[in-house]
Amino acid sequence: MTIEITPLKPDSPELEICAAWRYEAFLKSCGYSLDENGAQLAKLATQPDEYETALIALADGHLAGICLLVLREFEPLHDVSPWLASLYVAPEFRKRGVARMLVAAIEEQARGHGVARLHFYTGDAEKFYLKCGWSLAEQGVADGEPYAFMIRDL
Ligand SMILES: CC(C)(COP(=O)(O)OP(=O)(O)OC[C@H]1O[C@@H](n2cnc3c(N)ncnc32)[C@H](O)[C@@H]1OP(=O)(O)O)[C@@H](O)C(=O)NCCC(=O)NCCS
Repeated sequence: MTIEITPLKPDSPELEICAAWRYEAFLKSCGYSLDENGAQLAKLATQPDEYETALIALADGHLAGICLLVLREFEPLHDVSPWLASLYVAPEFRKRGVARMLVAAIEEQARGHGVARLHFYTGDAEKFYLKCGWSLAEQGVADGEPYAFMIRDL
């Protein structure tokens, strides 16, 4: 399987699929609408050369996953920036290194812009990030849900 990491393009079929993934996996439970989520992704997709970005993984040409680099996280508990966000790999492409490649590409993008430290919240994928070289900065409970605040020094 050949995995290619590439910027998400505006007005692409991939954008719609990624918006649906992101909504179902992360935003629906927080009360955000699918439309505003799609608009946010479209904005990220139109500025691929800017600091913030949306990267997708294509596995043998098929959309396999997405990951974002953003300045602001949704309702952050910590006043820091920037953030890796919305890492998602389609179930049929999991456990084949797609997420690891997406995280490495986001780190590279951040490093290229002089970022010294990336941040991320996860509910239950802490071990995945530890495997990717991230560190656990804090664990807690917010709105009744456990979270791990992870950091990556670049
Ligand atoms: C978590 C997720 C992104 C992992 O994607 P993936 O492409 O399967 O991950 P990779 O194949 O790159 O895995 C890299 C390593 O992490 C491990 N790993 C993957 N998911 C893991 C998890 N949830 N917990 C612990 N380890 C995990 C893999 O076994 C692999 O280890 P290895 O290199 O020793 O074999 C994917 O399961 C997903 O999209 N889940 C739903 C959304 C989600 O939870 N996103 C995370 C942000 S909260």
